[in-house]
Amino acid sequence: MATIIGGVATTHVPSIGKAIADKKQNDPYWRPFFRGFDYVHGWLAKEKPDVAVVFYNDHGLNFFLDKLPTFAVGAAKEYRNEDEGWGIPVSRSIAGDPDLSWHLINALVEDEFDITMCQDMLIDHAVTIPMALMWPGENWPVRIVPVDINTVQHPLPSLKRCLKLGQSIGRALESYPQDLRVMVVGTGGLSHQLDGPRAGFINKEFDQLCLDKIVAEPETLARYSIHDWVKESGAQGVEFLNWMAMRGALTGRVSELHRNYHIPISNTAAATVVYGNAKEVQRKAA
Ligand code: DHB
Ligand code: FE
Repeated sequence: MATIIGGVATTHVPSIGKAIADKKQNDPYWRPFFRGFDYVHGWLAKEKPDVAVVFYNDHGLNFFLDKLPTFAVGAAKEYRNEDEGWGIPVSRSIAGDPDLSWHLINALVEDEFDITMCQDMLIDHAVTIPMALMWPGENWPVRIVPVDINTVQHPLPSLKRCLKLGQSIGRALESYPQDLRVMVVGTGGLSHQLDGPRAGFINKEFDQLCLDKIVAEPETLARYSIHDWVKESGAQGVEFLNWMAMRGALTGRVSELHRNYHIPISNTAAATVVYGNAKEVQRKAA
């Protein structure tokens, strides 16, 4: 059976890609952010996931405002990136796991999630930047199942709905017959706003509340309306929907193994976390 080993969530600011290309990881501006990945690298080396289910939001590369699904699940053999106009190198492609994708798609539809299924899907910086941060070498040792959540065009799905989407995926993963080690990833956030009169808006207090509550009380956060979330976290702070779905997919006793919070990276409050997902049996044995 598949095992959900835990989760990683991190910001996906595109300029991180430029910093990596220019090898600026140790520059004073970037160092506090990149050092936050030392723990992640050790955890991944120890846990050795086979597959990552990646909750993210497309920013106009694969879907545009003319046709924008609320939830879209990849079912491709391979996912390609293209030039998005941020001035960062186009990323290498990432291998998919179509069998697992279809298992998740079937389970989601059975659970009454009317998702869009994508056998051809470009992945943008919201997938490629976190991958480059988690595995800085040449090889990315995991296959992925990308799950895109609309955080771009209102009406957006609620925080509660995204938590439930994650929970449905968590249950589906646990019923997958192959012996896979699966990690879940949430990308984007925390507070940021890229345009309008509040461009540059960051809310450290609210971010700390999110980081404190998501581990043991995600339902408390799920009570916020999208409108209130935008007020507290900025227009793009709604990328936290991806974090909620990631948290929902963790089915066991969740613990915070690592937290790094750094302001600002570009316009964004950058947070990186690792969550463990202890199983019932382990809990009893402990
Ligand atoms: C920035 C943040 C994002 O989430 C994004 O998708 C693009 C840019 C930024 O802070 O520059
Ligand atoms: Fe973004």
